Parts: sequence; structure tokens; C-alpha cells
Amino acid sequence: MAFKSLVLAAYLAVATAQTISGAFDCEPAGAFTLCQNLWGRGSGVGSQNSTLISSSGNSVSWSTNWNWANGPNAVKSYANVEHQTAKGMKLSEISSMPSTWNWEYQTVSDGVRADVSYDIWTGVPQVGAPATNASSFEIMIWLSGRGGISPVGSQITTATPIAGHAWNLWSGPNANWHVFSFVSSTGDITNFNADLMEFFKYLIANQGVSASQYLQSIQSGTEPFTGNANLMISTYSVSVTTGASAPAPPTTTATIPETTATATGSSTASAPAATQTHFGQWQVSHRHCALRRPSDSLLHRRSRTSKLTFASSAWWT
Ligand SMILES: *[C@@H]1O[C@H](CO)[C@@H](O)[C@H](O)[C@H]1NC(C)=O
Ligand SMILES: *[C@@H]1O[C@H](CO)[C@@H](O)[C@H](O)[C@H]1NC(C)=O
Repeated sequence: MAFKSLVLAAYLAVATAQTISGAFDCEPAGAFTLCQNLWGRGSGVGSQNSTLISSSGNSVSWSTNWNWANGPNAVKSYANVEHQTAKGMKLSEISSMPSTWNWEYQTVSDGVRADVSYDIWTGVPQVGAPATNASSFEIMIWLSGRGGISPVGSQITTATPIAGHAWNLWSGPNANWHVFSFVSSTGDITNFNADLMEFFKYLIANQGVSASQYLQSIQSGTEPFTGNANLMISTYSVSVTTGASAPAPPTTTATIPETTATATGSSTASAPAATQTHFGQWQVSHRHCALRRPSDSLLHRRSRTSKLTFASSAWWT
């Protein structure tokens, strides 16, 4: 009971805030939750804050201002918005996942090292927080990767055409899940408008991802390493629809009611889910070791994961 009250109090406390600056602050943002998630801040020095500008339905506008030095190969944070209801569908039941993302660096330092990326999670259970034992696949889509940074694993394709753009696909393990990262091979894509389901169709057809995986989370944000920037997301939207044109032969009968399988509209169930996701978020989003140095072994990532999970738990205990 005491724990629940604490959760509610924390949730309400941020509800009126516009700019958040605490390391693990979050705030509701319409259908989304905006979180600072400065999980890797200890690998360098600096600061960051994030601002909710507006939200409406499945759209949100926000910005994040960061300034990080040292630890050039270490991600400092993943400030992001996560949709609270566009999840829980089996991939085979999803007909489309339309998304729009318009962004720009309003200011950016020379030689900045950072990505601007989606982070999408799937797994065997219908519900699972990102980067947990419920996770099977982490699918990143890098609309920008500046300064010579690389995703987890190794590059396995070059300029693969998907959803109207060309992508270098990276693949590799991280903890108990597998990471696929689609990196724009043409530089920054600042006006992105695509059906994200195209990426999943490709992964199902070509990379052994099972269509019976559940969509567990759609996040979008930025991973800074070093430099400083003001990243403005003027429009971001995403939704998931289920229906006829499934990407793969149906394996079982549909178990998700149509109403919950569609991200549009309000949901009475979203408030407790959002609250819980705050905690999941704090514990999870540390795993972006967007590196491929020999020293960045899986073991190293694992130990960092454990350490950060502990730190996050300690924070709210
Ligand atoms: C965060 O916000 C304040 C204004 O509220 C600003 O002065 C500061 O420079 C911001 N950025 C960083 C990186 O701390
Ligand atoms: C997954 O993690 C949760 C929470 O730490 C734990 O309770 C559960 O037993 C784990 N499940 C498996 C299959 O390892």
C-alpha cells in the first residue's frame, strides 16, 4: 500500500511539469510518457533536460537539451517518448504501424556523437517492459547517427531499401535479447513518414523474427555520447492498427480484442500502465551500448545492466 501511494504521488508530481531535469524524471505526454532516462550519465560529465511542448492524441512535440563530455564511446542517456497503448499485439495481427517524425538540431556542436532513434521491443509474452527477461528483440531505427558511432553487433546488409529509405542493418546480441539496428545509409532523415510495419515484414521474411512475437513497446528518442545539442521534435506520431493484411500466415486465432489492438482513442487502462512503465523505464533503458569496440563485450554490457538496474531501484526505494 505504501509503495502504491508513493507511485501515485510520484506520478502526479510530474503531471504538471513541462521541463524535466532529474535523471529519471518522466511526465505524461498525451498517449505517451516522456522520460529523461539519463542512465549512462556516470560515464561522463554534463547535464540534460527535456521539455514537453504539446501533445494531442497519438502526436507529441518535445525537445531535449543536452551537454555531455568524456566517455566518448558511452551512451549517456535515452530521453524518449514511449506510447502507452500502442503495444500488446502479435506481429502477425498488425496491418500497419504508421509513424511520422519531424525533427531538427536547433543547435549542435561540431563533431557531435549521437543518434536519433526508434527503439521497439518484441517478445514472447504479450506484456513486457523493454530490456527485461520478457524481451526477445530490440529493433532500432536510426534516423541519424553522427560522429562515427555504431550500433550493437556487426553490419550485415548495406543500403537495404525499406519504407522509402536505404538502411545499413546491424545485428548482434545484448543480454538475453537480439538487437537489429537499421541505420540510415543516406545521413539524417529529418522528415520521416513511414509504415514501421515494413521493417517487421523485412525482419520476418529475412532475419528469422517470428510473426508470433508480441509488440511490447515503441519508444523514440536520442542517445547522446558527447557534444551538446538542442534537439527539437516538432512532430512525432505513431499508431498501430490490426486487421486484414497481416504480414505472415496467421498462426493462431486472434486473442486481442479489436478495441485494445488499436492505438487510437482514449483508454481507461492506460493510467496504471503508464505508472508502471515509469519504473520499468528506469530499470530498462540502460542497455544501449551503441558500440562495437572489442572491449565492449557482452559480459561488460551485462555487468553494466545489473549495476544500473540496482541504481534505479535504489533511487525510488
Ligand atoms: C536545461 O534548462 C535550463 C533552463 O531551464 C538551461 O539553462 C540549461 O542550459 C538546460 N540545458 C542543460 C544541458 O542543462
Ligand atoms: C523475469 O524477471 C522477473 C522480475 O525480475 C522475475 O520475477 C521472473 O521470475 C523472471 N522470469 C523468468 C522466466 O526468468
